[in-house]
Amino acid sequence: METGSGIFSVFLLLSPCVCVFNPAQINPLVYDEQLLWVSGVQGEVNTFRIPLITFTPTGSLLAFSEARKLSSSDIGAKFIAVRRSTDKGTTWSPTAFVVDDASHPNGLNLGSVVADEETGAVILIYSICFHRYHCSPASTMMVESLDDGLSWSRPRNLSVQLGVKAFAPGPGFGIQKRLPPAKGRLVVCGHGTIEGDGVFCILSDDHGQSWYNGAALKSIPYNQPKRAQDFNPDECQPVELPDGSIMINVRNQYMYHCRCRIVVRSLDGGLTLPVEEMFFDDRLVDPAVAAGALQKDGVLYFTNPANDKHRVNLTLKWSLTNGLSWENKAVQIWEGPSGYSCITSLDSGSVEDEKYIYAIYEKGRENYWETISFVKIHLFGGR
Ligand SMILES: *[C@@H]1O[C@H](CO)[C@@H](O)[C@H](O)[C@H]1NC(C)=O
Ligand SMILES: *[C@@H]1O[C@H](CO)[C@@H](O)[C@H](O)[C@H]1NC(C)=O
Repeated sequence: METGSGIFSVFLLLSPCVCVFNPAQINPLVYDEQLLWVSGVQGEVNTFRIPLITFTPTGSLLAFSEARKLSSSDIGAKFIAVRRSTDKGTTWSPTAFVVDDASHPNGLNLGSVVADEETGAVILIYSICFHRYHCSPASTMMVESLDDGLSWSRPRNLSVQLGVKAFAPGPGFGIQKRLPPAKGRLVVCGHGTIEGDGVFCILSDDHGQSWYNGAALKSIPYNQPKRAQDFNPDECQPVELPDGSIMINVRNQYMYHCRCRIVVRSLDGGLTLPVEEMFFDDRLVDPAVAAGALQKDGVLYFTNPANDKHRVNLTLKWSLTNGLSWENKAVQIWEGPSGYSCITSLDSGSVEDEKYIYAIYEKGRENYWETISFVKIHLFGGR
């Protein structure tokens, strides 16, 4: 009896969920799918890429993408596009543009979105001139919405506080720490340039007013040209685990050790990423891409094009052991060309919100950058 009540109180401490469903029953069903953006058909936009998705603190869904004006290239002028849903993805607003970099030769790159549960703010961080193509220096920029994603502040240059450095956040979401250490802290992780690559996190302890540099996991050889199979941690997605540590799932750019994902943990709220806390997850076979990860009610979810060479086969996997092992059952979301992905969910404590996760990903028939697709996934629906 003593042991039983002990376990119960630990459970309540770690999770807001009074979970009705048993994680062992997870059997995901793609419940609804909608194309939010289609490349090549909308006026001033050539290609939509780099999808991000988040819930706002009041429960609206916001989807973002880079709207590349002239070509599908990472370099070049862009808008940041947003669509908003107030009914959990059933209907969406028309596309609005949050930022317009005009005709910048090396315009903006997304990016991380982070929702601050304490202030209600939604913060979007992106880079400009990341590749230093006909421009210098690279800058880290931020815009903020204080009205649930309807309107956005003017861009603020965070490099003034952080120092000048090429930093490409995400792509994906940043987190607000819900548990100690550093409860309430905003943690946004991203990567550096090709030579100075690595995973770097920037932190804010005052709701995005001021930012400082936190953890770094640098590439080897650092600040030197890379070869195949060098160690080069790149695009990444952090999640907070139920013990308050931060697990970052990372693109293994030059396939060091395996054609699979790098995983690294921070035990101090994003200040350090010790090499002892790093491993290579052979189960997460990957072609070098930005992947999605999410921790919900003690279950870790992961999406990527699960193929060791090509960006095809967008697959959802889940772990009941915080990523130490993965369930054998995986769900294929799209067998064809598929690229970057991002996952979110609403942790309201309601039984309804316990059932769903929401993913956004690059999807195509010939090429993965043809469309950006939104899927609502019923976690217990495939029975
Ligand atoms: C951002 O601030 C840095 C540091 O002051 C500066 O070098 C850079 O030019 C600024 N970038 C933009 C886009 O204003
Ligand atoms: C798709 O992913 C599944 C799950 O990881 C894997 O078993 C399968 O071999 C993959 N198929 C292709 C064509 O990559």
